[in-house]
Order: sequence, then structure tokens, then C-alpha cells
Amino acid sequence: MVHRPLEGRLVRLRAREPRDEELAYQFFNDPEVTEFLAMRYPFSRLQEREALSVPARWPGAAFAIETLEEGRFVGTCSLDVVSAESRRAELGIAIGDKGFWNRGYGTDAVRTLCRFGFEEMNLHRVELEVFAENARARHVYERLGFVVEGARRDGWFQAGHYQDMIVMGLLEGELRLEG
Ligand SMILES: CC(C)(COP(=O)(O)OP(=O)(O)OC[C@H]1O[C@@H](n2cnc3c(N)ncnc32)[C@H](O)[C@@H]1OP(=O)(O)O)[C@@H](O)C(=O)NCCC(=O)NCCS
Repeated sequence: MVHRPLEGRLVRLRAREPRDEELAYQFFNDPEVTEFLAMRYPFSRLQEREALSVPARWPGAAFAIETLEEGRFVGTCSLDVVSAESRRAELGIAIGDKGFWNRGYGTDAVRTLCRFGFEEMNLHRVELEVFAENARARHVYERLGFVVEGARRDGWFQAGHYQDMIVMGLLEGELRLEG
């Protein structure tokens, strides 16, 4: 059987391409999509083009998320290696097409990305920070095995108030591959 490390049950992770620019521009200027992302300022077409033209912060990895069924571009995800010696990377994910929220795509993309991180990039630890008010994302991460490790209290100011930034981590062997 052909080894397809970037395929999940619903999504395939692939390289980001110039053709993604228009949709990515829409995704990352949609206030509902960016509500829980550290993207406070409008994202210009030039920034989007630059993001597409520069490889992920090496030795990290950045992907477009497309549906297996239709090959539709629905979001992006990444693993930025923050310490090669400690085999540690920071995870980012956004399903930018809101029509695909709450349908399992985010869970499948994060699972596929983490599996790739452990099995192909030989990571030991995947970590992230999630806004305390981002209940959906926190649920997804916990379901996949991420553990709450702490909080940056009042770490994020937005809409006139502070919220905590929850620190979560997943060690190799802890990813829930099923369910
Ligand atoms: C967060 C995100 C990646 C999740 O992807 P998704 O495809 O919508 O999520 P899924 O459908 O795979 O799973 C959603 C889960 O959250 C649950 N959920 C939805 N809203 C919830 C809420 N308000 N509180 C708790 N759980 C909630 C769903 O019931 C589902 O759980 P289940 O599968 O156990 O029933 C996606 O919504 C997204 O990209 N949002 C905008 C950007 C963002 O927040 N990125 C993460 C930054 S840390």
C-alpha cells in the first residue's frame, strides 16, 4: 500500500500554492475566522502573497488543507519547529471556510498534522496557545490528547477585555488516533 502521511479521513494536507491567494485573503480578513487568531490587523494581499512565496520557517512545515472529496481548499495549518534539539514545534490551524466548521475537518486536519509531526518530522512535542474563549478549538485539542499545561493570565487583550491564553502540549505517543 502507498504510504500517504499527509492524508486523513476527510482532508489532505498539501503545499500552499499561488492559486490559494484569493481564498486565503478572504479567510484571513474575515472577523469570524480571525476572532481567535493573533491577527488583529487587516492582512493585505501583499502579505498573503509573501506568506505564500516564503517557505515555512525552516525547519517547520506549512500546509494548505483541502477536502479529500472535492479537493477544495478550506484552510491552512502549520508546525513551526521552535527547538530542533528538543524536537519541539508549535502548531497553528485555521479552517477559513466557515461552511466547513463543526463537520470534523478541523479535528482530522490537526490529527493528520500531528501524526505527520511525530512520524515524519520526528518531533517529540507539539505545543500551542489557544485563547481561553475559543471553546471549540480547546475541545478539539483535548479530544486529540493535548494536555492543558498552564495559562498566560490575561495574555490577550481584545474587544476591551483581557482573556487568558491557555498553553497546551502533546508528547509523542499521546495523540489519539481514533475517535
Ligand atoms: C477551531 C477549528 C480548527 C475547529 O475545526 P472544526 O472543523 O470546526 O472542528 P470539528 O468539527 O473537527 O470539531 C469541533 C468540535 O468542537 C465542538 N464544539 C463546537 N463548538 C463548541 C463550543 N462552543 N464549546 C465546546 N465545544 C464545541 C463540536 O461539538 C465538536 O466536537 P465533537 O466532534 O466531539 O462533537 C476551526 O473551527 C477554526 O479554524 N476556527 C477559526 C480559527 C481558530 O480558532 N483556530 C484555532 C486557533 S488556536
